[in-house]
Amino acid sequence: MDKSVTVISHPLVQHNLTRLRDERTEPQEFRRVLSEVAALMIYEATRTFAVEPTTVTTPLARTRGSRLRREVILVPVLRAGLGMLDSILQLIPHARVGFIGLKREEKSLQALFYHQSLPKDLSKFEVILIDPMLATGGSSVAALNLLSELGAKHVRMVNLVAAPEGIRRVRASYPDLPIFTASIDKKLNAKGYIVPGLGDAGDRLFGV
Ligand code: PRP
Ligand code: URA
Repeated sequence: MDKSVTVISHPLVQHNLTRLRDERTEPQEFRRVLSEVAALMIYEATRTFAVEPTTVTTPLARTRGSRLRREVILVPVLRAGLGMLDSILQLIPHARVGFIGLKREEKSLQALFYHQSLPKDLSKFEVILIDPMLATGGSSVAALNLLSELGAKHVRMVNLVAAPEGIRRVRASYPDLPIFTASIDKKLNAKGYIVPGLGDAGDRLFGV
């Protein structure tokens, strides 16, 4: 489709995605599997993090090494992004965590903003925007606009499932933004749900 979209085809990612799609997967299991798949996805999504050379002294010798060039901030979109946060934080324990609260209004499908806690200046951070679902793209664009207003320059997005419509909408405003997903699904239905998708990610995670 477009070279800034990476579909992570790793067998473990696809295995877990299938379990999440299954309507019989209950919240307890859904939370566990979403967390597992997030860890697998972040490995791929951080592959292009900028690094810089450094040196390190081992017990035996001085040698070359590398370290991340920028501080990392994880930004889950509430609620469903929370389901991917803990396992990612375990892999990047030094990351900061910011939050953006958005709720898609059922009829209009407009993303309504209700919360943010983020540093005032994001220009020096590697920002990872985390949300399992990219549907119409309204929530993602709202979140990306906020990150951009705060000066973010190095942003990537991790979405378990993406709809072509959502990718197009994000692309219209952010043509080069890297997007990492486990699947580009077929389409949105009349109610704005991704088909085949996995249903309402927040509801399936938290049972309400
Ligand atoms: C879901 C999902 C995304 C959004 C995607 O959240 O987690 O944030 O919908 O839809 P869009 O691309 O059409 O904007 P929702 O608004 O249902 O909130 P919740 O996570 O609190 O349930
Ligand atoms: N939000 C979800 O949680 N699922 C969808 O399919 C679309 C938006």
